[in-house]
Amino acid sequence: MAFTILLSVALTIFSILVFRNINSRPSSRLPPGNTGWPILGETLSYIPNPAKFISDRMKMHSRDIFQTSLAGEKMAIFCGASGNKFIHSNDSKFKMWLPRTVIDILGLTNIDSNSPPWKLFDEQLHKFLRLESMQHYVPIMDTKVREHLEMHWMPFKEVKVLPLSKEFTIFLFCHLVLNIYDSDQVKELATPYNNLVKGLMSVPINLPGTTYNRAINASKVVREKLLELVRKRKMEVLAKKDYVNFDGLDFLGGLLRASIEGGDIISEMELVGKIIAFLFAAFHTTGNTITFLMAHLAEYPDVYAKVLQEQLEIAQSKEKGELLSWKDIQRMKYSWNVVCETMRLRPPALGGFRELATDVHYGGYTIPKGWKVHWSAYSTHMDPIYFPEPERFNPSRFEENHARGVYVPFGSGPRMCCGNQYARMKILVFLHNVVIRFRLSKVNPNERILYTPDPVFVDGLRIRLDSQNE
Ligand code: HEM
Repeated sequence: MAFTILLSVALTIFSILVFRNINSRPSSRLPPGNTGWPILGETLSYIPNPAKFISDRMKMHSRDIFQTSLAGEKMAIFCGASGNKFIHSNDSKFKMWLPRTVIDILGLTNIDSNSPPWKLFDEQLHKFLRLESMQHYVPIMDTKVREHLEMHWMPFKEVKVLPLSKEFTIFLFCHLVLNIYDSDQVKELATPYNNLVKGLMSVPINLPGTTYNRAINASKVVREKLLELVRKRKMEVLAKKDYVNFDGLDFLGGLLRASIEGGDIISEMELVGKIIAFLFAAFHTTGNTITFLMAHLAEYPDVYAKVLQEQLEIAQSKEKGELLSWKDIQRMKYSWNVVCETMRLRPPALGGFRELATDVHYGGYTIPKGWKVHWSAYSTHMDPIYFPEPERFNPSRFEENHARGVYVPFGSGPRMCCGNQYARMKILVFLHNVVIRFRLSKVNPNERILYTPDPVFVDGLRIRLDSQNE
């Protein structure tokens, strides 16, 4: 009896050791790491704290690359500046890939970036977002921020920044991209859109009450509303009505015109899916950055004072009522360093995903074709090798440039975020208007941050506002 127990204990220990070795020995040629539970993989460890997930595994397995399983897929996580550079400069080895949950919830019917509908959409998108076009939007953004603050900030002593910055983001997007001016129509989109976003990185269990199920239902509502809008707009374009606004710079009208002229290149449903994905790219990224930026201004009075000085110099150089211009944005150098430091500590986009189009050899390992790949901004942003005392908020880090692959909130290479100028302008215009009007303090200095996997303040970041004139 005793011998049987001893034998089974020995066999168990032996099989654990063999299993661990298979997973972690470099000679296995696969990157070291664990794939966790069936289906769930290590998703439930990743979502509550992606920064910790990455740094723990870099310490445990390798600083260059490790394997895991996220969103139901085997995945290699490339780490450090070299890992980022490898992915960003070898685009032909990778295909576009998004987790199944994201594809289902966004309702993307096709993610082949070489297909004609994608090519057309991307071409129009890059045309719309390029700096030469974008810089004309600065005064429009300024007008919209002023209106937003007058309505939602000025009458109050206290605000919740996160929901307001998201609301503003969706309003601005609807105005500039979709040509929607009616605020009730925007609100009808905003509420289900918020639920949709919450499910993007959820566990894909489609049962009543789950986050995923709520997101799928919300996605149907958003798609119906957008479909109605696209159809209406298409009729206007076909009727050759005036379908452009803001000096001829409207996105949806231009895209529909190009699609119709090419023989209906992009179907209505495909277009709806792409618009939802485009809105997602702009929505939580800039909304979160504005929120953490406000938190930092409230927490660091010395930083706030320097930002205020820079912004007052700009405000005082203008005529009464004159709107901000692209030139003013270029003068906001210190303020931009503060935004950069905010995005270092809280990367708004986490990173990017790909699928391997071929076997790839990296760091002494082979990653097979078909595996999914993730690069994470946390693997460099929070590494003391690149950023000494990484937890400390210190905007002066950005007085000097960083080596390639180190600071990557927008990614880099051919798939770098094409909305980076839009984001920069919008965030700086918002910052300008807030600091010249208000002094900020946190209502609850200990308000906790949760990861979803994006970091969010549990109570939306409650900020007390004191007028600059008091
Ligand atoms: C602080 C704000 C933002 C950050 C940090 C950010 C970051 C990123 C990152 C990291 C990627 C993925 C790159 C990759 O996969 O390697 C990306 C992609 C993208 N972003 Fe942004 N983004 C921001 C705002 C915006 C805005 C405002 C827009 C649009 C108005 C936008 C549009 C896009 C698009 C369309 C893509 C896909 C690019 C492609 O695959 O070619 N982003 N962004």
